[in-house]
Amino acid sequence: MRIALVGAGGMASMHAGCYSAIPNATLCGVMDIRLEAATALSERYGATPYTDFDRMLSEIKPDVVDVCCPTPWHVDYVVAAAARASALGIKGISTEKPMARTLQDCNRMIDAVNEAGITLFVAHVVRFFPEFKLANQQVKQGAIGQPASVRTRRGGPMPHAWNDWYTDFSKSGGCVLDLIIHDFDWLRWTFGPVERVFACGLPHHNAMQKDYALVTLRFVSGVIGHVEGTWSDPGGFKVTLEIAGDGGLLEYNANQPTGTPLRIAMETTESSSGGVAVPESPTGANPYQLELQHFIDCLEAGVTPSITPYDGMEAVRIALAAIESIETGKSITLAEEAIS
Ligand SMILES: NC(=O)c1ccc[n+]([C@@H]2O[C@H](COP(=O)([O-])OP(=O)(O)OC[C@H]3O[C@@H](n4cnc5c(N)ncnc54)[C@H](O)[C@@H]3O)[C@@H](O)[C@H]2O)c1
Repeated sequence: MRIALVGAGGMASMHAGCYSAIPNATLCGVMDIRLEAATALSERYGATPYTDFDRMLSEIKPDVVDVCCPTPWHVDYVVAAAARASALGIKGISTEKPMARTLQDCNRMIDAVNEAGITLFVAHVVRFFPEFKLANQQVKQGAIGQPASVRTRRGGPMPHAWNDWYTDFSKSGGCVLDLIIHDFDWLRWTFGPVERVFACGLPHHNAMQKDYALVTLRFVSGVIGHVEGTWSDPGGFKVTLEIAGDGGLLEYNANQPTGTPLRIAMETTESSSGGVAVPESPTGANPYQLELQHFIDCLEAGVTPSITPYDGMEAVRIALAAIESIETGKSITLAEEAIS
């Protein structure tokens, strides 16, 4: 699969490194508005640098377009690539999360790929972290019985990247749209659709120096979710997960120095109830490589990837509802869009 990459920043560099380790993928072109960035990344992987997207498509004739530029421009590249897909033989497009800055943009992307008849993959990488994948499986297999509540926490320092776009709320959507959308997608995958959202957070002035939010989700199933996100922690990136069910408690803490396996403490009739480690421990596999390998393999096999554009849009919907709740002080009732 010939890959054309959009963006040459942090996430694009991660994807480029992953493609070099994926046997059935070759990074052929890197496009960025900054020639020096496109050139530097291209040189590392033997690709051709571009500042003109159309020219990259015409010259590279890629099988896959991978969009890793800042969020507000995902829509432009997905729509433009889809429009040229049949002429150039483009088979699929991947876009980084969040799928887009608005629901209207998500819909435009879905319409464009449907019309072109090609696959759109939204790169929600948390589903490919071994611990989160295992936790999803354990919940679905009933390891802790009927789930009742779930708490996630994710965050670190305020990110600073190209043009400081993360601190511009109108572009990044703050830590709610950019960061804890990871958890919204994983939670929806694990516990089903969300019915209601209430959130508190720092006010979103256009230029943020810090951000923090605490979001409460009521799932259709009755499960309650507490999702905490922060861009106010100078002490490094931290992730925790805790799920309580009527059979026990499942927890994961990525901040343990040596990396801790998922733990389940079972409800027991005996007075002593020890923790039991789930027998698979985190592996050293790069989850970004796993997600891109999955996408490429699905394209080759002609099957639908495990994350659909609809999933990407619904994660954006939850995040935007949380932002609306922060801004209005009201709880927001959601209705998932019917899949057409
Ligand atoms: N999955 C994850 O864990 C994860 C982590 C970080 C970022 N992301 C997402 O990846 C995307 C990129 O984030 P990043 O951290 O790599 O940003 P970045 O600022 O490091 O890089 C962005 C690059 O895009 C270029 N660029 C800016 N506008 C452009 C345009 N209109 N067209 C083409 N190139 C343009 C910039 O010159 C820069 O090189 C965002 O959507 C972000 O939310 C995902």
